[in-house]
Amino acid sequence: MGDIHIGEAKENISNRGFLDVEVDPTIDLFGEIERLKKEKNAIVLAHYYQEPDIQDVADYIGDSLGLAQKAEKTDADIIVFAGVHFMAETAKILNPNKKVLLPDLKAGCSLADSAPPDLFRQFKAQHPDHLVISYINCTADIKALSDIICTSSNAEKIVESIPVDQPIIFAPDKNLGSYLIKKTGRNMVLWNGACMVHEIFSLEKITRLKIRHPQAKIIAHPECEEPILRIADFIGSTTGLLKYSQEDDAKEYIVATETGILHQMQKARPDKTFIPAPPDNSCACNDCPHMKLNTLEKLYLCMEYELPEITMNEQLRLAARKPIERMLEISAKYGL
Ligand code: 13P
Ligand code: SF4
Repeated sequence: MGDIHIGEAKENISNRGFLDVEVDPTIDLFGEIERLKKEKNAIVLAHYYQEPDIQDVADYIGDSLGLAQKAEKTDADIIVFAGVHFMAETAKILNPNKKVLLPDLKAGCSLADSAPPDLFRQFKAQHPDHLVISYINCTADIKALSDIICTSSNAEKIVESIPVDQPIIFAPDKNLGSYLIKKTGRNMVLWNGACMVHEIFSLEKITRLKIRHPQAKIIAHPECEEPILRIADFIGSTTGLLKYSQEDDAKEYIVATETGILHQMQKARPDKTFIPAPPDNSCACNDCPHMKLNTLEKLYLCMEYELPEITMNEQLRLAARKPIERMLEISAKYGL
């Protein structure tokens, strides 16, 4: 690996979003990452959509709620977040005094991008008596404009915790919002956002796949569009899908979410078959291009140089923290 100075590294990151340094291919990245964890008292948190190597080296793998809870409780000095920007940002909001690193700063989220703060502020102003519940897949600015945050694991309970006569705005995912309206019977005003990965599944191709695998169960994430959710045998967060596929007695599953989750599904139940639900064209669009910007090399470099780091304006952090804390309190109350 070439020598690089910190000043040079920072400039390199501001241009590219990650440390663009060649890594010696003979380095044992798994061993080096373990060494750096110990030396720096660092914890690696990874989302289920990360590539298998990153999942295998992580200290904790989870869904958005589990990751936020773990970030809140850790006593590590450095949190290395193998996920996307809003997740690392949430960890920073909860841990202002810890260093939070993201291997590639450009690992964003199409759903978070679908809610620009200025437009959302105007939208909110049009519904002044509404309480705002925002899905955690949003920027800190949107969180700061929200009353409560939720994830796909606790969204139903969060909506149900609001008095029935209180009107609600749900943002930014319209698919999760529509699913929640159906589940809870609450008539919420929805922001028109969506995830590019979960909107790509082809109903026609899944149906054809089901004809070839009649015993397979269709399991889907609630970010999918309504026609996919309608044919699903089970709907849940990534943790929910993983748990269901372990405990259920079917042998085959068609999995309608990002493909990264299949690694843990297959590891937990090597006796079962997991088939990724096909997208509506021949691309690998059921791989999240943002999540997959992180690589094992970038993870190693970010731990070695402690860059790129998530930083945040303190006023924004405090405003964004309140609705996250409300979510964590309600989740704890329900044992989620
Ligand atoms: P969960 O892991 O919380 O279900 O979220 C899925 C997702 O799309 C994360 O970006
Ligand atoms: Fe965002 Fe969708 Fe990627 Fe999750 S899978 S990070 S919601 S674009």
